[in-house]
Amino acid sequence: MSESTALFPDPSRHPDWIQPHSEKWYARLASETDEYKYPWKSQFDEPTAESLFKEKIASLLTTDSRVLDVGCGHGEFTLQFVTKAKEVVGIDKRESFIATANRINTSENARFVTVDVDNGLPFPDNEFDLIYTKKGPWMFGGAGEGNRVIKPGGFALGLYHGGSDGGLRTLFNGLYQPSVSGNPLEAGIKQTYEDHQNQGLSEIDVQGIEEIEYLSTPEDVLIKKCFGQSKSVKKYVWETCLSGVEDIFDKNATTKGLSVINYHYMVTARVI
Ligand SMILES: C[S@@+](CC[C@H](N)C(=O)[O-])C[C@H]1O[C@@H](n2cnc3c(N)ncnc32)[C@H](O)[C@@H]1O
Repeated sequence: MSESTALFPDPSRHPDWIQPHSEKWYARLASETDEYKYPWKSQFDEPTAESLFKEKIASLLTTDSRVLDVGCGHGEFTLQFVTKAKEVVGIDKRESFIATANRINTSENARFVTVDVDNGLPFPDNEFDLIYTKKGPWMFGGAGEGNRVIKPGGFALGLYHGGSDGGLRTLFNGLYQPSVSGNPLEAGIKQTYEDHQNQGLSEIDVQGIEEIEYLSTPEDVLIKKCFGQSKSVKKYVWETCLSGVEDIFDKNATTKGLSVINYHYMVTARVI
């Protein structure tokens, strides 16, 4: 669909728009909140990408395992492994997220440290049995410190978000950009697999996951779009989009809410 047929103005053209997941965007988010948590309301069909990732990690742990969560946010996901491993360490660049993680942690075998992984990792060689990242930085290949701090034969896991659609982009054309043609799962699996080649890893497996989420209200469509943006962007989006979004939402939502599909790619590999 061309830009001229778009139903909504593109919020990313607003002068205060910040590219999501950029350095500036995380800095802004961390200055506003001490958690990495989605602010919109929704419910999910099981299994979610997160529950599948949790299951996969748990299946590879023993009570002797040392685990590292890279880009752990405020540590809520990390803390689920304290009863399954000997030691769980979460690292994140944002001090406010790590402060929250340390506040909610009540376990002696978990700790959280502020670390910018671009400056290396403050851990000895061969320290961990399993390293994972849930939508944070990947640490393998090139000068990636993951290869140094993980034991040979250890596990490297990643969960990546590959965008949302399931009708969202057509329904709210302009607010969300139309997706590229083709099957997003097939293309994403191939690309993710290629991206993880030649990184000192073996047995690389990439699984595509379609997660069904139901956005609760029309406002939640806009809250999702404006996650991490400034008040001026939100004001502009609410003023220009809310009434149109309400009409479309009301026509298409089920009793659970408006369904969208979140695409994820789960990588599991072993370190050579
Ligand atoms: C998409 S969030 C995911 C947070 C958490 N893993 C979760 O799933 O809720 C990405 C996280 O990676 C962290 N991050 C990004 N770049 C980083 C870096 N260079 N060093 C350490 N953490 C980083 C961000 O601060 C953020 O908390």
